[in-house]
Amino acid sequence: MTYTEKDHKFKRYTVTSALPYANGPVHIGHLAGVYVPADIYVRYLRAQGEEVMFIGGSDEHGVPITIKARKEGCTPQDIVDRYHKIIKDSFAEFGISFDIYSRTSSKEHHETAAAYFEKLYKEGKFVEKTSMQYYDEEAHQFLADRYITGTCPHCGNEHAYGDQCEACGTSLNATDLINPKSALSGAKPVLKETKHWFLPLDQDETWLRQWILESHKDDWKTNVYGQCKSWIDAGLQPRAVTRDLDWGVKVPIEGADGKVLYVWFDAPIGYISFTKQLKGNDWEKWWKSLDTKLVHFIGKDNIVFHCIIFPSMLHADGSYILPDNVPANEFLNLEGDKISTSRNWAVWLHEYLKDFPGKQDVLRYTLCSNAPETKDNDFTWKDFQLKNNSELVAILGNFVNRTIVLTHKFFDGRVPKRTENGELKTENDVIRELATFPERIGRSIETYRFREALAEMMNLARLGNKYLTETEPWKLFKTDPERTATVLNLALQICANLAVLCAPFLPFTADKMHRMLNLQALGWRDAGRADILSEGTQLEKPELLFEKIEDAEIEAQVNKLLETKRQNELNAWQPATVKSTVAFDDFGKVDIRVGTVLECSKVPKADKLLQFKIDDGMGGRTIVSGIAKFYPEPEKLVGMQVCFIANFAPRKLKGVESQGMILSAEDKDGRLVLITPSQLVTAGVNVG
Ligand code: MF3
Ligand code: ZN
Repeated sequence: MTYTEKDHKFKRYTVTSALPYANGPVHIGHLAGVYVPADIYVRYLRAQGEEVMFIGGSDEHGVPITIKARKEGCTPQDIVDRYHKIIKDSFAEFGISFDIYSRTSSKEHHETAAAYFEKLYKEGKFVEKTSMQYYDEEAHQFLADRYITGTCPHCGNEHAYGDQCEACGTSLNATDLINPKSALSGAKPVLKETKHWFLPLDQDETWLRQWILESHKDDWKTNVYGQCKSWIDAGLQPRAVTRDLDWGVKVPIEGADGKVLYVWFDAPIGYISFTKQLKGNDWEKWWKSLDTKLVHFIGKDNIVFHCIIFPSMLHADGSYILPDNVPANEFLNLEGDKISTSRNWAVWLHEYLKDFPGKQDVLRYTLCSNAPETKDNDFTWKDFQLKNNSELVAILGNFVNRTIVLTHKFFDGRVPKRTENGELKTENDVIRELATFPERIGRSIETYRFREALAEMMNLARLGNKYLTETEPWKLFKTDPERTATVLNLALQICANLAVLCAPFLPFTADKMHRMLNLQALGWRDAGRADILSEGTQLEKPELLFEKIEDAEIEAQVNKLLETKRQNELNAWQPATVKSTVAFDDFGKVDIRVGTVLECSKVPKADKLLQFKIDDGMGGRTIVSGIAKFYPEPEKLVGMQVCFIANFAPRKLKGVESQGMILSAEDKDGRLVLITPSQLVTAGVNVG
């Protein structure tokens, strides 16, 4: 059975992509892990003529947003308004082709999420429990999730949150933390009684085991399957789905004042409420028909929520379908370090577009070809440059450009006639190979192997280049114009096929190619044929698909990151711990004095050293000091007073005898600064 005759159990596809938190812009990690693969998948399905619903939106609740608002002295709504717009615009500019991109602070979402909770509540699907939770007595507030920090009991990370340790990935309860601290006031929290509603996951073990561990043993990715298995094997616990907070969807029942739905309860319902916003009364077939295939694209930190908790919510309602697959990716690092919003260690999409306008596809290409599908991967600017210059420019761009330029040169830009190719072995081989690409690429996409799919697409461009190299139409024309026509016709058919087959990955490039080739919109099933571009079609003037990226552009990006690193180090500076106690008598043994600088110059052949002539009130002395880098004009120090140690044994530095040591302070950026008395004193007096 080939993919074109695959069983049509599914009539339509609901494809969701994780809702990014609206507490910062989106970066390359988001794109590589979730949105590029999801977009490739849906563009491919649409090209196959499938009915698809592609859902996205901003996750606008949760504690990180209220914490940020507090820090900036604005409302949570201000924060999400700001970032929702930036995120939405970035996705649009990168061609992420959502059918709807909405937000969880919308009225419709609040209504849908509240109704969802209410239905389960009325049907007795929750367990109500009173428990002791941390409370900040200064801020008069319960401390949910990220409002509390402390030491992780598993790995010892001192900055773990009340819901999760980011260092070891363990999901936590606030009461697990060692030395808990309020993120609001820094105070030690107290335990106080509060009532919450729990989803009894412990009762779901049997069907979850059957559904994931048996039915999806072979089609879910091993990283996803493995995480689910270890969760289920560890024994599922009831999960609280409400919080004592004031930002979120209000719990819609009596006696729940001051409580909202847990952000991980309301956010995935966003997938449903956004479908409703788009489709009105017709939304249900996307969520309740057994012939709809539901696929969630997410990052690995979202696995448990999409494979266990959200399915349990859907199952508790009883009228929904469950996901057919959850193709979660691992993480993308940046130049060897974990991407981090708070440390500004990221390539932000809106900044990339300022530096590389019009180069959306270059980033889409780089991120897909290096996507963290099976393990964490690293993005480096060098690799980005290499992929652009030696793959996009040298293989795809070069092939398409050569073919179109030669067609203009020899045939006035009209698709020439391909004559009898029955006997021409090369042509027949190429035609046969060409026919296999759509299926090969399609199968890789359908099994969520996007890197492999992209590599196959590039192999078609390689085939084209090889064909041109073998037939040399640029030489052939002089001796055999008819055969040249055949060669360029076939090369143009390959270009046209590339225009169709590269579209899921490189939509902007595909558009350009369609324009240059005057190619009408074709489906995936039209590809693979060697006659999709009609003879006689007038081509447009060729425009370059890709441009070389120069070293200087890459250096600028690397320098920007180095500057971020420097800033982070400065921000992380702390005073050194105080040394162990010394007796006053020990201090008294060091003879510190004030001297006046008489002369100062660089020590020849030593770039770090300055040589001082000091008036010490005792006839003068020479001292060498390693501060040259910080005082580029040493002659200006003449007349200044410095502090020096007068009773160190003399020693030779680069041939100069140094009779003591001048005191300086090292600032947090490593700069050395001379210590000088606040008023002029007599040269040679003691310091103490
Ligand atoms: N905001 C979450 C994150 O960035 C993802 C939410 S996905 C949804 O990790 F399912 F809850 F919507
Ligand atoms: Zn930990």
